[in-house]
Amino acid sequence: MRAGAATPVLAGPEPRLRLALRYLSHYRGRYAIGFAAILGASLVVMLPPIVLRDAIDALNLGVEGGPAPTMGTLIWYGLVIVGLAMIEGFLRFAARLLVSGTSRDLEYELRNDLAAHQMTLDRTFYLRSQTGDLMARCTNDLQTVRDLLGPTLIDLARILTMLIAGFFFLLTVNTRLALISYAYLPIVAIVIGAFGKQVEERYGRVQEQFGALSARVQENISGMRTIKAYAQEENETAAFGVANREMMRRSMSWAYWTAGLFPLMTLATGASVILVLWFGGADVLRGDITLGQFVQFNSYLLILSNPLLALGWNITVLQQGAASLKRISEVLSARPLIADPDVPVVLEQVKGEIVLRGVTFGYGADVVLREVDLTIPAGTTIALVGVTGAGKTSLVELLVRMYDPTDGEILLDGIDIRRLSLSQLRDSIGFVPQETFLFSDMLSDNIAFGRPGSSDEAVRYALATSQLENDIPQFTHGLATVIGERGVTLSGGQKQRAALARAVIKDPPVLILDDALSHVDTHTEEEILRRLSEFMRSRTTIIVAHRTTTLASADVVVVLDDGRIVETGTHAELLAREGMYSRFFLRQQLVEELVEDLPA
Ligand code: UTP
Ligand code: MG
Repeated sequence: MRAGAATPVLAGPEPRLRLALRYLSHYRGRYAIGFAAILGASLVVMLPPIVLRDAIDALNLGVEGGPAPTMGTLIWYGLVIVGLAMIEGFLRFAARLLVSGTSRDLEYELRNDLAAHQMTLDRTFYLRSQTGDLMARCTNDLQTVRDLLGPTLIDLARILTMLIAGFFFLLTVNTRLALISYAYLPIVAIVIGAFGKQVEERYGRVQEQFGALSARVQENISGMRTIKAYAQEENETAAFGVANREMMRRSMSWAYWTAGLFPLMTLATGASVILVLWFGGADVLRGDITLGQFVQFNSYLLILSNPLLALGWNITVLQQGAASLKRISEVLSARPLIADPDVPVVLEQVKGEIVLRGVTFGYGADVVLREVDLTIPAGTTIALVGVTGAGKTSLVELLVRMYDPTDGEILLDGIDIRRLSLSQLRDSIGFVPQETFLFSDMLSDNIAFGRPGSSDEAVRYALATSQLENDIPQFTHGLATVIGERGVTLSGGQKQRAALARAVIKDPPVLILDDALSHVDTHTEEEILRRLSEFMRSRTTIIVAHRTTTLASADVVVVLDDGRIVETGTHAELLAREGMYSRFFLRQQLVEELVEDLPA
């Protein structure tokens, strides 16, 4: 789960096109061969009408009393036409196979890059995004882009080369007729342009709603426990129905425009045939062109009607691809606010002294931490206390650079943590967050997450320290038990202890426990703290806690209130001061005594 290399910065007015070109350029050789084959096919397809013209003019000569062509000659004409058709078919097939296959490679590369890029993005990005929508971008939109850069691109190349080649071949027959039959093309271009814009806009809205719908499905599935506990199944189903109806409405409004293009193109090609029959027929009667030439000309129109019809469809797919490409480029061009410095300072050995100087921080406009000054000497244990919402989690998350302070600085061993590499900083800190997250993987892999390939001994030590060892026999396959998604098959206390074991096994110089034992009973907590105290002896430890035993055993207690440090001192000093801490402590003591007295 290491972060991959960041993709180069995309800037400029049209990052979509640049993005597409950047990936296409990786396969330019194969695309070039594909396009060459398509160009070849578009030229070869123009040859049979010439053969047809010669055959008809030869026959016509016979009809008018001249030398009639022999049966052998006619068969020869036929064979040439079949041969040409075979060559054309082969070239088209080869081009499609090559380019479609290449678009799969391109999709593979783009998908890898998307996944790697998402690893580099920080909390702020994920707070703004919805999981389901991100997933839709990585699946649905990615497929649309692949279709655009594969089959659609090759089809568009075929259409364009055929229309251009066709015009030149028409010119060889008769300039006036050629101009007449292509006269409507500018109008077609304008119509397609207008349709295309509508299609792109509407498809963008369809994909946006698909993202919203995916986000809903994802939230409903992960929040299923809550939905059931509050009997909200019907309400949620109804709300889903509303979002789904909106999806249908948007899809229909998109479908009207894509469906409209096809008949419009048929009309346009039909109109050109009528014009050519009208003017060309007169030319034949006047003897300006031969009957063979007239048939040749009409054959071209017939051949060209196919790309014209396909043009409409391909333009819609092109616009859809553009809409999807935009959604993908939005993800790829997102930059993390928290990133490695260009030249990181490397600490040979982290001792674990932490200093906060004038640290101010807020998530938005609201300030959550104000001017916090705090020095934690290496190897000491501090307890962080404060009422809910006081800013304890925010403070410890700043230490691992989940966010950066808006003002002030945080030093580790005298170095601003923004000057260290993220990997050195985070490797130095064993952080047990308030909310535990476990992967749907083996318990042992979850514990060794930060140190894959840890020795059995290290695992055993972590299990003993976190007191999870006693629970292992309960699991069907012991440490090899695969736990459910997000750890749903473990109890709250088991999850917390697994998270603690995960931090302990990293063997870090700094340990941070953010209310990490809240779901563990008092006796187990005491046992964990007893074992941890040995582990913590040489390490800097920050414990966000409530329990009296934890507070009393800390070297220093820091009281946070509304984002400010209001009291600092040893447990005894603060008790004697009879301020906020002593009130907090005595109340907590009462609560614990009450719980102790309850019958088991
Ligand atoms: P904290 O999450 O730092 O408080 O939020 P805390 O001291 O750890 O609280 P408990 O004991 O775990 O409950 C401090 C403030 O920051 C806001 C919260 O609403 C709170 O007022 N906050 C927190 C945000 O605005 N956004 C967040 O993502 C997290
Ligand atoms: Mg908290």
